[in-house]
Amino acid sequence: MSRFEVLAHGALATEIVAGPGLTRQPVLPDRPGRHQVVVFTQPGTPRLIADGVAARLGVEHTVIELPDRDVAKRWGLVAELYESLAQRGMGRHDTIIGIGGGALTDVAGFVASTWLRGIEAVYVPTTVLGAIDAAIGGKTGINLAGKNLVGTFTHPGRVVVDTDILDALPVGLKREGWAEAIKAGFIADPELVALFEQFPENPPMVEVVDRAIAVKVDVVNRDFREAGQRMILNFGHTIGHGVEIAEGLSHGEAVAIGMVAAAELSTRKYGFDYPMSDVLGSMGLPVFSTADRNRVEELIWLDKKRDAKGLKMVLLDAVGSPRIDYVTQDEVAGGLAAIGLG
Ligand SMILES: NC(=O)c1ccc[n+]([C@@H]2O[C@H](COP(=O)([O-])OP(=O)(O)OC[C@H]3O[C@@H](n4cnc5c(N)ncnc54)[C@H](O)[C@@H]3O)[C@@H](O)[C@H]2O)c1
Ligand SMILES: [Zn+2]
Repeated sequence: MSRFEVLAHGALATEIVAGPGLTRQPVLPDRPGRHQVVVFTQPGTPRLIADGVAARLGVEHTVIELPDRDVAKRWGLVAELYESLAQRGMGRHDTIIGIGGGALTDVAGFVASTWLRGIEAVYVPTTVLGAIDAAIGGKTGINLAGKNLVGTFTHPGRVVVDTDILDALPVGLKREGWAEAIKAGFIADPELVALFEQFPENPPMVEVVDRAIAVKVDVVNRDFREAGQRMILNFGHTIGHGVEIAEGLSHGEAVAIGMVAAAELSTRKYGFDYPMSDVLGSMGLPVFSTADRNRVEELIWLDKKRDAKGLKMVLLDAVGSPRIDYVTQDEVAGGLAAIGLG
């Protein structure tokens, strides 16, 4: 088992544990005063996992199944969840456990961080993306007119990553997570990138998850509120987001395409030398977009990383060496050409 600590104001905010079989052990932190637990989960496999975890809690509990995916990240549903917490008399010392993918832990965290001005949250992420990204760093949120428009910066007390659950995921969900994992390697851990080069289709889960969590924890500990350093986590996301919306791709697939474009910009600006398309392609990730080019460009320039001086992107000097820089429309066009949007 590996253990990581996310700190806030110098104190322990989140304990993250990762390793095989961890949901077969009690997941709650040992703490006096807890009277009950509400478990939020998603339909399908996460529900089965949640029932197993709940059976081992040893404290009064209720399991509430939310709708799947981002349908759970709705204000109307959050209001209903507050009502059910009120009916159950959820108190300041009680705990909400979120068991599911990133959408589920985002909404569970949002409810926990706002109920009674904040009660303890524990996450059991059941997707790779959830485990190495969404569950770490304290961003909670729901969608309104746009994605994640309302949310809080509140760390969960504990995150339990059971790598056996992640090993059993369908290949498509695994691959989506691999895209975020190799991204962590590109910005901070060349050995993680080397693991994917060596085992592109079936990388060793425990080591990949440990390394990717370590990267995110390190970045978050240096920059909780995204003032500067945390932006490197957006490598591949500026052009990726454009493609995600314009083409309706999954987030992981879009990030892969975004990394190919960002690598091309990095080559043109700093001589970055890396066969990005070959490596991501060998992992089964897409490296070209078939979206409408103008729509993608429009979306890129609406990006929230744009300020008065222009659009900021995360680029690479070398694997593990990120640089944040302003890019011109011509440079972006070069990146788009590399993903088939010339
Ligand atoms: N808070 C953050 O910092 C942060 C970071 C990245 C992403 N996110 C959010 O995460 C969400 C995407 O994450 P995701 O892809 O994990 O989300 P998801 O919760 O939408 O899950 C994707 C699908 O996987 C299924 N699933 C989950 N676990 C499974 C399992 N063990 N076996 C089989 N199927 C399983 C779910 O039922 C769902 O259909 C988005 O809402 C995004 O905004 C948040
Ligand atoms: Zn992402």
